[in-house]
Amino acid sequence: MAKWLDNAIFYEIYPQSFKDTNSDGIGDFNGIIEKLDYIKELGCNAIWLNPCFESPFGDAGYDVADYCKTAPRYGTNDDLKRLFDEVHKREMHILLDLVPGHTSVEHPWFKESMKPERNEFTDRYVWTSSIWEAPEGMGSLRGISDRDGSCAVNFFSNQPSLNYGFYKPELPWQQSMDDPGPKATVEALKDIMRFWLKMGCDGFRVDMAGSLVKHDEDGKGTTKLWQGIRAFLDEEFPDAAMVSEWSQPKNSLAGGFHMDFILFFGPDHPNNLFRSPEPFFASRGKGDISKFVEKYKADYEATARNGLICIPSGNHDVDRIARHLHGDELKFAFAFLLTMPGAPFIYYGDEIGMRYVEGLDSVEGGYNRTGSRSPMQWDDGVNAGFSCAGKEKLYIPLDESTDRPTVQNQMADSSSLYHEVKRLIALRQAHPALQSKGEIDFIYAEKNAYPFAYLRSAGNEKILVILNPSDRDTAFDCDYSLENELYAFGGKMSAAEGKITVPAQSYAFYQVS
Ligand code: NOJ
Ligand code: CA
Repeated sequence: MAKWLDNAIFYEIYPQSFKDTNSDGIGDFNGIIEKLDYIKELGCNAIWLNPCFESPFGDAGYDVADYCKTAPRYGTNDDLKRLFDEVHKREMHILLDLVPGHTSVEHPWFKESMKPERNEFTDRYVWTSSIWEAPEGMGSLRGISDRDGSCAVNFFSNQPSLNYGFYKPELPWQQSMDDPGPKATVEALKDIMRFWLKMGCDGFRVDMAGSLVKHDEDGKGTTKLWQGIRAFLDEEFPDAAMVSEWSQPKNSLAGGFHMDFILFFGPDHPNNLFRSPEPFFASRGKGDISKFVEKYKADYEATARNGLICIPSGNHDVDRIARHLHGDELKFAFAFLLTMPGAPFIYYGDEIGMRYVEGLDSVEGGYNRTGSRSPMQWDDGVNAGFSCAGKEKLYIPLDESTDRPTVQNQMADSSSLYHEVKRLIALRQAHPALQSKGEIDFIYAEKNAYPFAYLRSAGNEKILVILNPSDRDTAFDCDYSLENELYAFGGKMSAAEGKITVPAQSYAFYQVS
C-alpha cells in the first residue's frame, strides 16, 4: 500500500459544480487547479475526482462514451494532465473515477456490440441469445438494435453491463469468467488504467466494484477478478491507490483494494449516525451507536488490517449531511469522521456545511441526488463565486437562501464549521494514533446511550476520544486519566472514582497511558 495513504485525507470533487473559469456555467479542470490551494489549506492531501470523461451525461458522467478522453466541457486531456502536475507540486495525490461495470449506450464498443454480425465487441457486453429472453435478475435493453438478444443493464437503462462472465454459467449465452469475451474486457480495463496512470494519476475510485461478475452472490468471482487486477498493478504500477465502492471490505480488501467505502445502506451503517430519522450526532440524543460499532468491529476484525475501511462525510449520491444535522451537530460528525481509522473522505462543501437544495428538477440523471450536487459556495460575489455565467446557465441552481454558508463567511468566523474541520484535520495529522492505520478499541458504545468513547493507538501513543453530541450531561465508567488534554469542544469533562462525567454537547481527546 502506498505510504501516503497512512495519513491521507480525501476531498471529493464533483467537477461540474466546483469552479467554472470560462463562464459556461459548468465547473472545469482550470477551476479545480485554481482551488487546489484552498483544499491544501483546509488540510486535505488527496482528491477523488468524479468521472470527467466523454459522455452523453445520462448519469452525470457515470455513463462513459470514451474512457481515455476527457469531456470537452471540463477541458482537454492536457488540462487534466496539468491538474495532475499541479496536485503533485503541492504534495497531494489524485484519484480518477473508474467505471468498469458499464458504459453509456454511445460507447463505440456498444455500437459494435449491437450489430448482428459477429465482431470484436460481440461479447463485450452481457447479451442473451434471443430478444424474447431477458437476463434473470437484471434489467435489460431490448429492441434497440438488429442484434437478436437482450442486453443486461448495470444501473440505469442507458448503462449496458460490460461482460466479465457469470460466476457459475447456467445458460448457453452466459459466459464464464475465463471465456475469451470476459477476458478481453479485463484486458481493456487494464489498458484504461494504464493510460491514466502513465499520465500521472495516482489511482482510482472504482464505481460499483462489486458488480462485475454476474450471479456472484457472495462476491467470490468478482474478488478473484480484482486479484488479477492487483497482480497487474503490483507489476506495473505498485504505487497506484485503489478504493472501492463496494461496502464489503472483506471481499474488497481480499480483492487487493487498499480501501473500501462504508456506504449508506441498511441500519448498521453510518446512515444511522448521520442520516437516519434519529442520527446519533443530533443533539436530540435519540440515536444508537451500538449497531454501527458492532458491524464496524466485525468488518475490522475480518479484514485483519489488510486495508482501510473509509467513512465519507457524504457523496454525490446521498443527502448532504447538513440536511440531517445542523449547527454544532456537524462538528460532532466531523470530530468522529476525523478520529476514526481509515482515510476520511470529505465531500466538497460539507466542510462549510453546504445544504441540500430542496425542490430541484433532476439534472443529468441526478433525481433526488441533484440537491446534493449544487455549485460550491465560495464567496459573496456573483453566483457565490462559482461562475460568472448568467444564473440560468448554471449546471444546477445554487442554494438561494440568504444565510447560505460560503467559504468566505466561514473563514471570517473562527467558530465556524470550516475552522473546526481545519483544526480537527491538523490534530489528526499531528498524531499517528489518529491516522489511517492507528488501532481502535471501543471503550463505550452502549445501546441507546451517550457518550461514545474509543481509544486510538499507534506505537506508544494512545488517544482517548469522547463524544457526547446529546443535549444532556452524561457519565460512563472509565479509568483513564484526563490529565493530558489534546483538544476539547464544549464544556469540561471530569474524571473521579473510575467515572468520567461528560457535559452535554461536548467532545474531547486525551493522551493517555
Ligand atoms: C455509483 C455512483 O456513485 C452513482 O453516481 C452512479 O449513478 C452509479 N454508481 C452508476 O454508475
Ligand atoms: Ca466551465
